[in-house]
Amino acid sequence: MSKKITVVGTGYVGLIAAIGFADFGNQVIGVDINKEKIDNLNKGVSPIYEQGIYDYLDRNLKSKRLRFSCDIGLSMSQSDVIFIGVGTPPKENGEADLSQVETVLEEICKNLNGYKVIVTKSTVPVGTNRWIKDYIKERANSDNFDVVSNPEFLREGKAVSDFFHPDRIVIGYETEKSKEIIKDIYRPLYLSEIPFVWCNYETAELIKYANNAFLATKITFINQIANLSESIGADVIQVAKAMGMDGRINKKFLHAGPGYGGSCFPKDTKALVKIGDRFKVDMSLVREVIHSNEMQKNRMVEKLRNITGDLEGKNIAVLGLAFKSETDDMRESPAISIINELIKNNANIKAHDPKAMDNARKIFGDKITYCETELDAVAGADALILVTDWNEYRSLDLTNIADLMNNKVIIDTRNMLQPEKAKELGFTYEGVGRK
Ligand code: UGA
Repeated sequence: MSKKITVVGTGYVGLIAAIGFADFGNQVIGVDINKEKIDNLNKGVSPIYEQGIYDYLDRNLKSKRLRFSCDIGLSMSQSDVIFIGVGTPPKENGEADLSQVETVLEEICKNLNGYKVIVTKSTVPVGTNRWIKDYIKERANSDNFDVVSNPEFLREGKAVSDFFHPDRIVIGYETEKSKEIIKDIYRPLYLSEIPFVWCNYETAELIKYANNAFLATKITFINQIANLSESIGADVIQVAKAMGMDGRINKKFLHAGPGYGGSCFPKDTKALVKIGDRFKVDMSLVREVIHSNEMQKNRMVEKLRNITGDLEGKNIAVLGLAFKSETDDMRESPAISIINELIKNNANIKAHDPKAMDNARKIFGDKITYCETELDAVAGADALILVTDWNEYRSLDLTNIADLMNNKVIIDTRNMLQPEKAKELGFTYEGVGRK
């Protein structure tokens, strides 16, 4: 039976969940404090760029299964299930900041007008769901609710398709009543035999952190192997390919590059170390991953400096600003560290990105030049550094670029170009982990 759902938060987590649950046939209200965002969403305008989002948004608004509101109290009082999808950004000390979650809990306490299931989708430290349960019980003075932990594994850029085709759904729960309600909400996935992992709160919370930290470790591992490859004359692409042929390893997340970024891996690895500290358990491996990832970003500028020498006054073209392709998100993007280092060394930067220019302006203001096209960025450049793995950069017209550049130097931090082709055209080419 379809359920009445409120999803609080219309960022990557909340918005995709709201649209997805509506598409499964539930009645969903997406809630946010930002009125402009809500007005736009009700008109079918998404605040984020995600493949396929418009079709689903449009379809579910038209069917009236989905609407958006700023009235959190009214929405909650009309719903059987409340999903928490607000941000949990890192605090200065690396711990997750739960203040937005707490604000939602205060509203829940005020609007607990009958049995409700409170589902945490935001990534929260181990122990949070139990704390949420105690918090509501105490403040609302009621037992008429259940808390469920339902971490998400969506990738930015592929979030819509990941929502409808997940590898698994993880549910931390305590009562059969709440389990049946979750099954109802996810019925289309449940019926199509997507695996559901039913577990306790702590297990669900840890699965999320362990998953992200493992992937971050996998990337960091191949980045270190890439660095070693450079020193011994091996080719990391072939190393990764052969490793990936081992079914126990698999080929995904073995692409060497400028270091991982985004709103999740950097934040969640730091939070996992903090959780380890809290319980006095050694998390030195993850700690080392965080450190090594910072080194990897710095290494990209070192590669440039090794070729061009002093960066002062040099014109550098930066292609790609988003933390990965298919998103406009620049949070913790390696491009930020790289550009900041270049600015610090008084280089002149001309940058291009197919989607992230508006976000870049918010970060760098007038410290860099923003270019409409890749060719505008490379014109007159002393070096070109490729940072984001956008497909369109794979087919750059190197002949044209060679004519436009002042010095023919390419740092390809994503191994997207063909080194032989670049060298034929007279470029000094440097990838990551390849000769
Ligand atoms: C990541 C996880 O993949 C999702 O499963 C999870 O739900 C999400 O975090 C989250 O916790 O919300 P996302 O941050 O969107 O998703 O990005 P990824 O596709 O995982 O990439 C993360 C970073 O690793 C990017 O900077 C990417 O360029 C880099 N990367 C990825 C590599 O350098 N090499 C690889 O082989 C793969």
